[in-house]
Amino acid sequence: MSYLQLEEEAPAVADDGVWLTCIECGAQFAPFDDIRYTCDDCDSLLEVRYADLPGFDAFEGEGVWRYDAALPFEEGVSLPEGHTPLHRVPRLEDEIGVNALRIKHEGMNPTGSFKDRGMTVGVRVAEELGVDRLACASTGNTSAALAAYGARAGLETLVLLPSGKVAAGKVAQASLHGARILEVDGNFDHCLDIVQDLAERGEAYLLNSLNPFRLEGQKTIGLEIMERFHADYGRFPDRIVLPVGNAGNTAALYKCFRELRQAGAIDADDVPKITGVQAEGAAPMVEAIEDDADEVRRWEEVETRATAIRIGNPVNAPKALPGIRETGGTAIAVSDEEITDAQRTLAGEGVGVEPASAASVAGLRKLRDEGVVSADEDVVCLTTGHLLKDPDAAAEAGADPEPVPNDTDAVLEHLDD
Ligand code: F0G
Repeated sequence: MSYLQLEEEAPAVADDGVWLTCIECGAQFAPFDDIRYTCDDCDSLLEVRYADLPGFDAFEGEGVWRYDAALPFEEGVSLPEGHTPLHRVPRLEDEIGVNALRIKHEGMNPTGSFKDRGMTVGVRVAEELGVDRLACASTGNTSAALAAYGARAGLETLVLLPSGKVAAGKVAQASLHGARILEVDGNFDHCLDIVQDLAERGEAYLLNSLNPFRLEGQKTIGLEIMERFHADYGRFPDRIVLPVGNAGNTAALYKCFRELRQAGAIDADDVPKITGVQAEGAAPMVEAIEDDADEVRRWEEVETRATAIRIGNPVNAPKALPGIRETGGTAIAVSDEEITDAQRTLAGEGVGVEPASAASVAGLRKLRDEGVVSADEDVVCLTTGHLLKDPDAAAEAGADPEPVPNDTDAVLEHLDD
């Protein structure tokens, strides 16, 4: 049975209509009796399943917990998160040449990235399991979210970061929110290897996107987009374009659409094409899509200015590749220059994003130029993190300040030059 098929009935191990299913062998597990991140039998990824899947009419309130009917709990450790803007960008829409273009700006979450959506649910599960130390490997944003939500919950937090490769704003957040920060002499993938070892040895509860509960929170991005777009246009978007690192968000979006389909809330042709964008220097998912490969090859050497997606071993690929393929989407790589250009263009419409986020717009631009995206499409680009996360990249992309004397006439003279 393909993992894309959701069970119709709750198994005996279900707790209040919630359980875990292995995406590879279909083994089912109780959700909260033990700590597990992968399948006991075959070590593959797990997915959270529900006996009842809600339609849009079940949702009320605001933010991530508006969607509690589609989540394992009714409330969680909240700052609060979600309910992010779906910006109109008329000039960019014109320039790229699509029917409608909206920007879902996840940088407007409490710690400045979409990770907060996953963390509010993940930390609630950690409380249920009774753990006392949370940990993650991170390119920065997950560590900031983990530190803030852990602090809110009164739990100890430990984060492993690739030394010298995390943007300043993110390290500052993790630090001030009280995480213990370990800088590893290696890249993100090495950090994740180590933190997985620590979690297996019972040293900490792992809150990377390998943890299936994180993705439950993140699927609310899809729910918000579908509801908001439909309210504005009376239809659903044709395509959602997003930056891809560990491919957790890609997997979460697809889960969102599968569940809406199963609930009868949308039809098959309402499902947006999931379109992933990676930086050229870290593009194993793009390679797998282009080669039509079943598995992703781990890239040992990765490099990009978009440090948030400087990842060579996307652990959620087994969930994300089918998501891209089954929805008729695609994946594309963009250069650092194309990313910076897109970051400037977005900033020129008042939307401030970090480099990784701008990859979505850079990718759309390229796909439209290549004719893969057509002029009649309605597109939503996801921008995943706030401009201030990476002040150095922003300053580099922007104009330099101009020194002037402390004198109005001199200032006017300078302006006339
Ligand atoms: N955009 C930003 C700003 C990110 O921080 C990340 C991932 C992604 C996109 C990619 O999302 O992994 O779900 O495909 N950041 C992680 C972190 C790895 O540690 O903050 P993905």
